[in-house]
Formats: sequence, structure tokens, C-alpha cells
Amino acid sequence: MAPLRSVVAATLLFLSTANAHFELNQPVSLEGDKMNESLEPNAPCGGGVADLSQNTATDFHVDGDSVSLLLGHPQADYLIRATLDSRAAGNWSQLYPIFTQSGRGSFCTSNVKAPKEWVGKKGIIGIACNAPDGLLYQCAAVNFVAGANTTPGSACTNGSSVSASFNDVPALASLVGTSSSTNTPSSSTAPSPSASTSKGAAAALLVPGNGVPLGSLAATAAMVLSASTMGSTTILRGFKVSVAVLDAFLAANGEDETYGTPPFYQHHPDKDRISMLLYGKISKVDAGADRNNFRVMIPSKEGHDHSTVAYVTYAWVTIYAHRDLDMDEDLPITVPAGFEDLRKEVLSICGSVPDQDRLLDEGRMGLYAFIRPQYCDQCDAVFDSPHNAFSERQVHRIRVHGSKEGTCPLPNA
Ligand SMILES: *[C@@H]1O[C@H](CO)[C@@H](O)[C@H](O)[C@H]1NC(C)=O
Ligand SMILES: *[C@@H]1O[C@H](CO)[C@@H](O)[C@H](O)[C@H]1NC(C)=O
Ligand SMILES: *[C@@H]1O[C@H](CO)[C@@H](O)[C@H](O)[C@H]1NC(C)=O
Repeated sequence: MAPLRSVVAATLLFLSTANAHFELNQPVSLEGDKMNESLEPNAPCGGGVADLSQNTATDFHVDGDSVSLLLGHPQADYLIRATLDSRAAGNWSQLYPIFTQSGRGSFCTSNVKAPKEWVGKKGIIGIACNAPDGLLYQCAAVNFVAGANTTPGSACTNGSSVSASFNDVPALASLVGTSSSTNTPSSSTAPSPSASTSKGAAAALLVPGNGVPLGSLAATAAMVLSASTMGSTTILRGFKVSVAVLDAFLAANGEDETYGTPPFYQHHPDKDRISMLLYGKISKVDAGADRNNFRVMIPSKEGHDHSTVAYVTYAWVTIYAHRDLDMDEDLPITVPAGFEDLRKEVLSICGSVPDQDRLLDEGRMGLYAFIRPQYCDQCDAVFDSPHNAFSERQVHRIRVHGSKEGTCPLPNA
């Protein structure tokens, strides 16, 4: 049994050197300990190449065996699937219910089962992870053997801050051959060229109309159309900060770093720890401030890069389709009491952050807009289907969170 300290050290190492994705530790992944995280978005096996005539396989018991994972994101959903196809080209079967892990760290279940008919065959076990920045993949080559593995081993542990719950995640359900077509109507539709174009626009600063920078809009009212059906547009007032400085500020205040992953808006403003930290500082100056206004927003970037830019807001609106903006009301130019002190406090940490990790306009106040993928507002499920992200989000909210809103709520949302 590995001493706890070395497990903790290994976890810290992983979190500090990796970009906070996930690892498959058991069964042994195709890439072993040479996993290349930047290849993890590649389906079906990340940087691993499935080829059962070449891959080294370990035994996997069909009546129950262990799958051990390490998550670097604060939350993600997992699918555990398998195929007998030598190249993992398809024909996937689901081996375990789709689940959501909350909390960074290890997760292990020793109750993953495969069809009994597979005994004596080789196969590929594939893990698909629905992370805030997209789907990630890892695989392992296995020999399916009879019986159950009753000694999962010391590597099979759950992190102390990790919890898991079974969940309905259409983006993952569509990756196995089960009939989930009723709730993923678009899963068989190939993404159109325009979809990738709009995805490329993610995180871009929005400049409406004829190149008029938003910051110079003097109008008291403006109509904004969301540029992408895939996500939503957020317009905010506040300051821009590098993720490096933001993370140093969070760490100095005893909070987890973001690593450039869009934070989870779950439970904002009352339970999201970053929002609580910001409000705690603001409310010392103005006890009557609106706690909803102060939060960190990080644009999600194309593909798998993490953002290096974050925003700290004092006012924000999200536009799903279109809405009237009353600038005085929604995005007032007057900076609330305490916010400038907060900005100075965040920037005071700059000295401890290497220059190359910082922004040239670190801390600049402004009116900013960006597009982000469609998030659930109650958990961190992400919906990035090019054409149906909004309706997927609504279906998810109805099914998982009991929302009564319907799939086509009024657009002022
Ligand atoms: C990981 O993959 C990326 C993308 O192909 C590549 O640029 C990088 O060099 C690889 N890293 C290692 C350590 O092989
Ligand atoms: C797909 O998997 C099923 C169930 O294991 C198997 O019967 C079938 O032959 C497989 N099909 C292909 C094309 O591999
Ligand atoms: C980890 O947590 C899951 C979900 O709560 C549980 O099913 C599993 O048995 C736990 N694993 C260990 C090794 O305790």
C-alpha cells in the first residue's frame, strides 16, 4: 500500500504539471505513464493507438474489475465503455453507468462488468470524460477473463474530496450503441463547416456592427444578438486578469486554482467559493452590495487549450438568443464601492508571477464580451453540439434538475 503522503505528492505533482485533465491508471492505459495530455481530445483513445495485435493487454475480470481514474478538473462526467474491435473503431458497449465526479483527485470503482461472452477475448476499454473544455479520451487493452477481481489493489482509492453520482449525460450516452437517440436528436448529424467556424469564434472579443469596439458604445441601450447558437454571449464590466495572477490570488486566499478552466457557475453566488471570496472582500466595504454581481469568468477556448485570460466582474449579462440591454441598468459604468480595492489586491500579487505568464494589459477595466459554450446553470455539464446546444441544455435542466421551463423559454434569458 502506497504511503498516503506519496499519493498526495503524486496528486499535487499531477495537478501542478498537467493542465488538469484526466488519467486512466487502471487498467494500464495505452500510453502508460507517457500520456500526452494535449492529445486527450482525440477520439477514441487520446494519444494511444488501439491495435490489439500490438498493444500489451492486462487481465480484466468480466464479473467485476477495477477502473481507476485521476481527475484534474473540479468536476467531470465519465463513460466507461469497451469494444472487441481491434482498432477501437466502434461497436462500443457501456460497462458502467455514466457518472459525474465532483472534486479533483482519484476515483476508483471495482465493480465494472463486461459481457460474459467476452471471456477469452481481447478488447479495448475506453474512457470518455466530459470535461468543462470538451470530451477527452483514454483507452486500455485488456484480456477479458472469467470471474471477479476481489483484490482491487492499493491504487484503487477515492480522493478525500471526491464524490460521485450517476447522471444522465447525453454527450456521453451518444458514444455507445445504446438507444439514447430520443434525447440526442442530433447525435448522428455530422457537424457542418459553419459549426467549426463558429467554434473558432469562441472566446473572441465581440465587436458588434462595423468594427465599433464595444467599449466605445455610448448608447444607453443596445440590442445584442448572440453570434453563435452553440453557446451564449456574456457581456461584462470589470477587469481583465491573467489566469496566472488570478490563480496566485486564489491560492493566497486558500482557494483552488482554476488552471484556466472555466469555473463552475454551480451555486453562484452563495456557494461558489470564488464568488464567495470576492463578495467577502466587497462586502467589507459595502455590506449592501449585490452578491450576484461579483464573479470570475473564463472564456472557454477552441479545442483543448486553456484560457490564459480571466475576468472579474462587477456587472454581467448573459445572452442566449437576444435581449435589450439597458446599459445604465444592466452594465453601469459606475464602479461599485470596494471593487477598486479588490482589483488592487488581485494585482498586488503580480510580483510573484513570471512576466511571461502575465497580460500586457493586466487589470485593465472595461466592458468586455465573449462567447462561451452552453453550460448548465446548475451543474457544470457542457453542451457543445453545434446546432442543439441550447435545447440539449434545456432537456438536461428538465431531466436532471427538474426545471419546469420547457425547451423554448422566452428569449430574455
Ligand atoms: C504532445 O502532443 C502535441 C500535439 O501533437 C505535441 O506538440 C507535443 O510535442 C507532444 N508532447 C510530447 C511530450 O510528446
Ligand atoms: C459488435 O458487438 C457485438 C456484441 O459484442 C457483436 O456481436 C458484433 O459482432 C460486433 N460487430 C462488429 C461489427 O464488430
Ligand atoms: C469510490 O466511490 C464510488 C462512488 O461513491 C464507490 O462506488 C466506490 O466503491 C468507491 N471506491 C472505493 C475504492 O472506495
